[in-house]
Amino acid sequence: MSTFKVCITRKIPETAAQLLLVRGYIVDMPAEESELTHEQLKNRVTGVDALIPLLSDSIDREVMDNAPRLKIIANYAVGFNNIDIEYARTKNIMVTNTPEVLTDATADLTWALLLGVARRLVEGDRLCREGRFSGWGPLLLLGGDVAGKTLGIIGAGRIGQAVGYRARGFRMNILYSDPQVRLQFEKDCTARKVSTEELLTQSDYITFHCPLNEQTRHLINAQNVYSIKKGAYLINTARGSLIEEQALVKALQQGHLSGAGLDVYEFEPRITDALLELSNVVLLPHIGSATLKTRSDMARIAAQNVINFLEKGQALTPVY
Ligand code: DGY
Repeated sequence: MSTFKVCITRKIPETAAQLLLVRGYIVDMPAEESELTHEQLKNRVTGVDALIPLLSDSIDREVMDNAPRLKIIANYAVGFNNIDIEYARTKNIMVTNTPEVLTDATADLTWALLLGVARRLVEGDRLCREGRFSGWGPLLLLGGDVAGKTLGIIGAGRIGQAVGYRARGFRMNILYSDPQVRLQFEKDCTARKVSTEELLTQSDYITFHCPLNEQTRHLINAQNVYSIKKGAYLINTARGSLIEEQALVKALQQGHLSGAGLDVYEFEPRITDALLELSNVVLLPHIGSATLKTRSDMARIAAQNVINFLEKGQALTPVY
């Protein structure tokens, strides 16, 4: 039995705590659903061997310096832009994430957003609820076609590819931009690797699945937003800061873009006011991975990473 101490920064599915507790770990997980402030987080980590944070917890130098025993940060997310990776590396702290288990859930939600915005589902729902449906209308809520159109996938890792595989059912032409050539994906989906610039000019639907880092921050910005094909739709289930929201708002207001489906925001959890005003935008509260099974699997992997690393020196899903 070990006496390792683990801090889980917010209530997550019980799977994680259960796995740790049966092995004798001391687990500090808030009973409430509330988020820790940075100050609370700093106080919580003194004396812990492992930390399981959320994507909204900024794990910076201050936090790590306050945790002299910290050996592993097992992020409860696949993205890890909330962690100062370089600093963790210099301190010899292992960092892990939760890949694979959330691929299908996130790809499904990407499609829900794509179809939702193209076919104006939220506007239709609102119209019905507000008692404004007065019968079939030849011009009522006309949207965009999806079948046979061009889908541009920025970042063709696991999730980007899963979105692409789903597009086969819609007979879409698939373009992707990625640092790597994805041969099997190209073969299976007749996908074509292009530069991001070309992808923006050719795609009817553009979906983002790349990591957020200094190279990808504001990938879409005031300079290049008008190089996107006129009438295209943008879908983002990755990280909000990939898109400069002011630039997106302008392009939507001016009708250059037909619509956007967003699950993530530049200033999350704050949503730019102007987006709230636009009816051609579908907004979700960062729920890409929010299925019961996926969130439970993420908890299991985070805990398993902690156990494997502390007990055997080997993490399951290290990010470096
Ligand atoms: C992630 O894991 O990075 C998602 O944004 C939330 O599950």
